[in-house]
Amino acid sequence: MATVRGRLTAWYTTALTLTLAAFAAVVYVASHRAAFEELDRRITSEADLTVGILAGVYRAGGVVLQRDAAGRPALVAELTATLDAVPDFLIITHTEGRVLFASAQARARINEFEQLARLARDSRSSVADTVTIQPLGPTLRYVVRPVIGAGAELGAVLAAAPTAAATLQLRQLLGTYALTLPFGLLIAYLVGSWIAGRALAPVDEIITEVREITDGRSLHRRLAVPIERDELGRLAATLNEMMGRLERSFSALRRFTADASHELKTPLTVLRGGVERAITTPELPPDVLATLEEALQEVNRMTELVDTLLTLARVDEGRAPLHRELVDLREIVEEVRETGELLAEPAGLTLDAVTPAAPVVVAVDRSRIRQLLLNLLTNAVKYTPPGGRVRLRLELDDGRIAMTVADSGIGIAAGDLPHVFDRFWRADTARTRTEDRAGAGLGLAICKWIAEAHGGSIEVQSRPGRGTAFTVKLPREAEPGLDAGSAA
Ligand SMILES: Nc1ncnc2c1ncn2[C@@H]1O[C@H](COP(=O)(O)OP(=O)(O)OP(=O)(O)O)[C@@H](O)[C@H]1O
Ligand SMILES: [Mg+2]
Repeated sequence: MATVRGRLTAWYTTALTLTLAAFAAVVYVASHRAAFEELDRRITSEADLTVGILAGVYRAGGVVLQRDAAGRPALVAELTATLDAVPDFLIITHTEGRVLFASAQARARINEFEQLARLARDSRSSVADTVTIQPLGPTLRYVVRPVIGAGAELGAVLAAAPTAAATLQLRQLLGTYALTLPFGLLIAYLVGSWIAGRALAPVDEIITEVREITDGRSLHRRLAVPIERDELGRLAATLNEMMGRLERSFSALRRFTADASHELKTPLTVLRGGVERAITTPELPPDVLATLEEALQEVNRMTELVDTLLTLARVDEGRAPLHRELVDLREIVEEVRETGELLAEPAGLTLDAVTPAAPVVVAVDRSRIRQLLLNLLTNAVKYTPPGGRVRLRLELDDGRIAMTVADSGIGIAAGDLPHVFDRFWRADTARTRTEDRAGAGLGLAICKWIAEAHGGSIEVQSRPGRGTAFTVKLPREAEPGLDAGSAA
C-alpha cells in the first residue's frame, strides 16, 4: 500500500477484525457450554425425578410393577400414564435387562429405542454423555441413573434428549455472526480510515505548505509550528530550521553572483574602452589588429554574460521590476524583425514576420519583451543551418496573445526539451560546436522569467532535424493597478 494512511487503515482493520473474531469465538464457546449444560440439567432432572417417583411410590407401599398375561414384568398403568408426560426419551429397565417402560418418544423411534435400551442396561457411569444413533443420527445427550429404594427388580432409568435444540441455538449464533461480521469489518475499515485520516491530516498540511514554500520564491516563509511539542511539532520545527539554512545559503549564493557580476562590470567597461581606443590607433600591423578585434569580441561576450547573470541574480532577489507601458506589440515584432534581418542574412536564412492587421495594445515592459523575442530569434538563427527559414508570428489565440518564433533548424531531442529553460543548460550539439554557436545557456532562462513576470508562459515544440517553435503566451488585459494615463 502506497500511503501511510492506507497502511494504518489496514492495520486498524486487521486489529479490530482479530478482536471481533476472538470475541465471537469466546461467545461461541461460552454459548456452546451453556447450551449443553442446560440440556444436561434437563435430562438429569428428568432421570432423578423418575427415580424419585418410583422410590416414592414404592416407599408408600404402592405397587410399582405388574405382570402381564405371559408373566413378564411391566410398570403399573398409573405410573406409565404419569411418566408418559415426559417429552424426552425415557427408558426404565429391569435388573435382568428387560425394558419396563419407554416414553412415547422412545416407543415411536425403534432405532433410538434399541440403542438407548442397550445403554440403559450396560452403562455404569452416572455422568451425562453423548451418543450418536447409528446409522444416521440423531445425536443425543443421555444420562443413566440406577433406581435405588424402589425394590430389587428395578434396574436403571435413562433420560435422553436430542442435541439438535442446543446446536440450533449455536447455528443461529453463527448465522448472526455471518450477517454482522461484514458490517463490523466495514465499520472497522471506515473508522480506521477516518482515524488515520485525522492523524495524518497535519502531515498533509505540512506537505502542502512545504511545497508552496519551496515551489515559489517564498523561502522566507515558515511553517506554523503547533504549540504542543509532539512529533508533528518537532517535524515542523526541524523543517523550519532546514528552510532557514536553505534560505541563508541561497541568499549567500545570490549575493555572491550579484556582487561578482557587479564587481566585474567596471573592469570590463574599462577594458572595452581600452581595446576600442587601441583599435583606432592608425597604422596598426594587421596581426595586432586581428588580436585586438578578437579581444573586443570576447570582452563584449563577457559583458553580455555578466549583464545576464546580474539580471538573474536580481530576479532571484525579487529586485528586477518591470517597467510596464501600453505598447502595440506589432511595433516590437517589427523592430525585432529588422534586427533579425541583420543576423539572418549573413547566416543564409530567410526571415519573415506575420502580424495581425489590428493593433495589439497591451501593458508590457517594452525592452524586456524585445529582449525575449531577440533571444528566441538569435537561437533560431544560431541553430538553423544555411538555407533554412525563420518565422516570427504574432496572433490572438483564445483571448491570449501568442508570439511564436519558429525555425526549420536542427531541433531539440525530446529528452532535452524539459531542460531547455534551465540555467546554463545547452544541448550537446550546441556545446560541441562552440565556434559559430557560442553561448552560455542563459538566454532561455531569461525568456522564461520575462514571460512569467508578465503573467504569461513560454512553451517549446520541436522535432529533431525538422525545426523548433517557441511560443510565448501573454494575457490580454493590462495588469490591474496599471495607470493607463502614464502610458506612452
Ligand atoms: N531554436 C533552437 N533550435 C535548436 N536548439 C535550440 C533552440 N533554441 C535553444 N536551443 C537549445 O537550447 C539550449 C539553451 O538555449 P539558450 O538560449 O538558453 O542558450 P544558448 O543559446 O546556448 O546560449 P545564450 O542564449 O546564453 O547565449 C541551446 O544551447 C540549444 O541547445
Ligand atoms: Mg540563446
